[in-house]
Amino acid sequence: MSNEKKLAGEAAIRFVEDGAIVGVGTGSTVAYFIEALGAVSDRIKGAVSSSEQSTALLKKHGIEVLDLNTTGELTLYVDGADECDPHKRLIKGGGAALTREKIIAEASGKFVCIIDSSKQVDVLGKFPLPIEVIPMARSLVGREIVRRGGHPVWRDGVVTDNGNWVIDVHGWQITDPVALEADLNQIPGIVTVGLFARRGADVVLVGDREI
Ligand code: A5P
Repeated sequence: MSNEKKLAGEAAIRFVEDGAIVGVGTGSTVAYFIEALGAVSDRIKGAVSSSEQSTALLKKHGIEVLDLNTTGELTLYVDGADECDPHKRLIKGGGAALTREKIIAEASGKFVCIIDSSKQVDVLGKFPLPIEVIPMARSLVGREIVRRGGHPVWRDGVVTDNGNWVIDVHGWQITDPVALEADLNQIPGIVTVGLFARRGADVVLVGDREI
């Protein structure tokens, strides 16, 4: 699968326009994209990063990291995913970077999602759904998830770049991801739901193949 990840990371370069500020996600597939971006760093203005991990990689490859508050809207966001359905709706957050990823996806005109074929599913939910929560709300959110038929598991020991905690929800067959995302977003204490359904991907690259 890592060959498909590499192919996808490299294939996403074709969406990078001269002078662009590129939104950059997080994960092992994105690491290949950052490496390829480093090779064309002289023709971009810089990047907005979704995590401390990606920031370090971007800097290592000579790419300037910019603040989203000063860049305005971005034309392009490139990121991986944990699952992708046929409507380009995603589960993300396996790397606990979901909040900043969702912010940058929302701020970007085009979201190019880079995955290997193991991430393609008919129905989202086999991969446990990550939810970032304010620490004091962990139990409250857990009870709300149980009420909705899910099985919440606290990702014990993990603290996000924003100082919050992550709950992974097992056991959901997510047939209506837009509705579930909207419903969960109403629960106090939830910072970000790792469903990218209302704003899913615009383009999905499975290896170097666009679907
Ligand atoms: C990070 O929080 C996630 O959303 C990643 O995009 C996702 O886990 C994909 O990671 P890999 O590219 O490492 O599979």
